[in-house]
Amino acid sequence: MKDLSPKADDLEVIETASTDEIQALQLKRMQWSLKHAYENVPMYKQRFDAAGVHPDDLKSLGDLARFPFTHKDDLRKNYPFGMFAVPREKIMRLHASSGTTGKPTVVGYTANDIDVFADMVARSLRAAGVRRGDMVHSAYGYGLFTGGLGAHYGIERLGATVVPVSGGMTTRQVTLIEDFKPDAITVTPSYMLNILEEFHNRGLDPRECSLNVGIFGAEPWTNAMRQQVEEAFDMHAVDIYGLSEIMGPGVANECVETKDGLHIWEDHFYPEIINPDTGDLVADGEMGELVFTTLTKEGMPMIRYRTRDLTRLLPGTARSMRRMEKITGRSDDMIILRGVNLFPTQIEEQVLATGGIAPHYYIERYRAGHMDALRIHVEALPNAADTLSKTAAARMLAKRIKDAVGVSTEVNVGDPSSVARSQGKAVRVVDNRPKG
Ligand code: DLL
Repeated sequence: MKDLSPKADDLEVIETASTDEIQALQLKRMQWSLKHAYENVPMYKQRFDAAGVHPDDLKSLGDLARFPFTHKDDLRKNYPFGMFAVPREKIMRLHASSGTTGKPTVVGYTANDIDVFADMVARSLRAAGVRRGDMVHSAYGYGLFTGGLGAHYGIERLGATVVPVSGGMTTRQVTLIEDFKPDAITVTPSYMLNILEEFHNRGLDPRECSLNVGIFGAEPWTNAMRQQVEEAFDMHAVDIYGLSEIMGPGVANECVETKDGLHIWEDHFYPEIINPDTGDLVADGEMGELVFTTLTKEGMPMIRYRTRDLTRLLPGTARSMRRMEKITGRSDDMIILRGVNLFPTQIEEQVLATGGIAPHYYIERYRAGHMDALRIHVEALPNAADTLSKTAAARMLAKRIKDAVGVSTEVNVGDPSSVARSQGKAVRVVDNRPKG
């Protein structure tokens, strides 16, 4: 793999600033953000008043814990533009979540917000090893989803050449990679596996392709997946995190030289970790739910927004800003089976460690008599698709899951290509239990 480590002058001054400097900036910005939210968004005024707190009460960063949380449901209740803190005419761009249940959640950005968004994605890409003059194949979906346009503007801001391919049409993705020879790709990790498959289908060696780094996010993925993709393409695989409510991609990013978790761009997004059951803060290093407060956002400030993503905060390494560990999963995706909590990422680790099967999988929840049960759907590799190999792989995977996660599951090893392929974010859990 190519050495993509940054040189000292590749970094912004703030990326190596001292903790004191970062915290002083955060406090000043947080005071502004709370005031901006309170004065311009009726919901925040009501909430703060009801909790008996006022923006002037924030004298230190620790005082933030006295302010109330914001939830996804608050965006739904204020649909479409009720969370905006500026007149609609000042909003330069809207994005929205897919909204599989009910109304989508809408987010809005001022010109300045779009500018910060581009800067943060550019900083993220630089952390991943992309440089001015490189070419980046941009395969996150373009549209209401923040991934495509978010990456696009950041690539341009960095001074790289953007290839705005968007998701889908996998054959064309491979043709463009072969012909244009991009240095980097931005895409969901699950879709990267489809691209890999297409390389194999065409008899091409992915290790020979031009890509030096992939910037993968928008869904949880494991270090086991990182290893698989890095080996398959002979390139770096780096994690990018973000969410629409806070900005989009580029809230946090891994550094290619360390790959030890994602540095949170704390000069714009202030992280806290809470116990999801009690709402109490937990210390850095402890697992819990990630909560963000935006420090500079004008269009839609978010105060103590509960992401439902589970991780822990770690001290800075390659940069001074704190890191978050790779996301274990969303609390929504947590499965409780006979008292054991489990996440799809734990299943993914075992799928990738089992021979004879492809890395595509999903988890089916179903009812067996009066009990909830899990069936793991995977597929055989073409060279191990006979009944004997499939049975052996199923037994091996079930045993691995039992040993590592502590639950008994049924495993279905289907024929090659039997598991539906993702075009963007993969659906990892399908619930077939009777409703009600
Ligand atoms: O997925 C923004 C994004 C686009 C991030 C492209 C990275 C790359 P949403 O559609 O609002 O925004 O979904 C946000 O996706 O709360 C996490 O649950 C999940 N997620 C995003 N990045 C990661 C990641 C975009 N690197 C939700 N690891 C978040 C794990 C991630 N989960």
